[in-house]
Amino acid sequence: MMPAQNSAPLFAFADADDYQRLRDLLEKAGFLDESILDAIGINDLPSLESDHPLLLDRTAGGSVLHTLIRLFLMEVPVEADTFAQAIRPMTPESWLQSGLVRSHNGQVAAAVKLLPFRNLILAFDLPAMLQTPQRSQYVMGIGGSTITLSQLTIRKPSRQTLDLGCGCGVHAFLAAQHSQQVAAVDLNPRAVQLAAFNARLNNISNVDCLQGDFFGPVGERKFDLIISNPPFVISPESRFIYRDGGKEADSVTRNIARQAPRFLEEGGFCQILCNWAEKGGSDWQQQMAQWFEGSDCDVWVMRSESLSPAAYASKWIRHTEFSDEETEFSQRFHQWLDYYERLGIESFGAGLITMRRRAIGPNWFRADESPERMIGPCGEHVARGFELQDFLETVREDRALLACRLKYSADLRLEQQFTPSEQGWKVTGSAIHLTKGLAFRGNSDTFMANLMIHCNGRKTLQELLPDMATALKADPAKLAPLVCQLIRKLVEQGFLLPAGQ
Ligand SMILES: C[S@@+](CC[C@H](N)C(=O)[O-])C[C@H]1O[C@@H](n2cnc3c(N)ncnc32)[C@H](O)[C@@H]1O
Repeated sequence: MMPAQNSAPLFAFADADDYQRLRDLLEKAGFLDESILDAIGINDLPSLESDHPLLLDRTAGGSVLHTLIRLFLMEVPVEADTFAQAIRPMTPESWLQSGLVRSHNGQVAAAVKLLPFRNLILAFDLPAMLQTPQRSQYVMGIGGSTITLSQLTIRKPSRQTLDLGCGCGVHAFLAAQHSQQVAAVDLNPRAVQLAAFNARLNNISNVDCLQGDFFGPVGERKFDLIISNPPFVISPESRFIYRDGGKEADSVTRNIARQAPRFLEEGGFCQILCNWAEKGGSDWQQQMAQWFEGSDCDVWVMRSESLSPAAYASKWIRHTEFSDEETEFSQRFHQWLDYYERLGIESFGAGLITMRRRAIGPNWFRADESPERMIGPCGEHVARGFELQDFLETVREDRALLACRLKYSADLRLEQQFTPSEQGWKVTGSAIHLTKGLAFRGNSDTFMANLMIHCNGRKTLQELLPDMATALKADPAKLAPLVCQLIRKLVEQGFLLPAGQ
């Protein structure tokens, strides 16, 4: 017999030892990223949704792991007895009281999602909550934006870190591994409760979960790192606290960017994953530059996408509206488009803003397209982008740049394409790319390939010029400005580095 259900889930165990018991239970069952996937023979967690019938079959064995997967990953109820067996030595009462599960007609169903992610176990809301009257309080889990920000976070040792809009706490917990103390702030009390539960479940003691409006709860504290995946979606709605900032256009993100410098230690970084409105009249880079005027920060904006109003509205409406009712979609869609037209928004940029406080200016601003691929953790590549831009600021004169020794990155690869012809194989193209982190890629030609190969850190660019000029039958003096222009781009993207770095 299952006990009666507690009507107010607290996301807390009454017995403090239950956190350790639950952790032990999940670990023993193999409820970790890799082992789960191995156990049910799928490639990645998203396949859980697409391969539902197959997974029902693969989890029919009734092991503890199968029961946990059915409950928390597939959201399939299990028999009360099976559940009670699976969670031993814990009791069904403690699970019900904590708000992790609910019972109905002799079955137990998940009340939250429980997902393994990067050696953490995280509880957050079930997507079905988006269709209920409580939807505005929905606490999101691991979305695409979560994964992107976690990959791009600069993971240097930090004394104080701030996660703004922490949701279930994922960024705060990842940052806790390289921070002395982390403040995790969210306006949604449900998110703060879930984050606090997750902190205890993962035995993390250096994260404070605070409820409030962005910087409100942290007083005068200063941080070495501020990270935020804010409610950045630009729309006329205020339906979901996790999605809609509730202010006009991109004001929510802009306000975070404007306030952040006051909370940053000198040299500290603030990283915001977000969307911004691109209006007519000037290019997007100029518009973004205005956000940071007088900020005392060096800023790098990496744009990963720019969408038309129609594509943007459709993408975000489909995120939360699952109904097949086309008129419902259409009404909302036109309401969103009218709003964009009223505000004069022509496109929507998406990407990462990274700010570094440097009060002794002058500060630099850089805004460009991000690479198509990001391979593995990219935080150190973002930090290196700042060092490279600092270097480029010191060699703005061609003469200064030509006096430098540069070396190609160890991650650089040169590719040549050969095409068959009557006369044999001919080189018909070449490309360069990086194999790690911000994996920039670009077309290359013989000149560029030669330049890269010769940049082995031993000769200055000035010393390399005569050989290049001879190969190209060009005048070294005329070649110099072209070489410098090209070199600056190659350094910016991390293909070439100052020798010794
Ligand atoms: C896009 S979600 C990000 C959640 C989580 N950090 C992640 O990356 O998966 C945005 C979060 O910001 C929170 N939020 C919305 N408005 C806020 C505000 N004014 N102050 C603090 N947090 C806010 C939402 O409750 C939500 O948890």
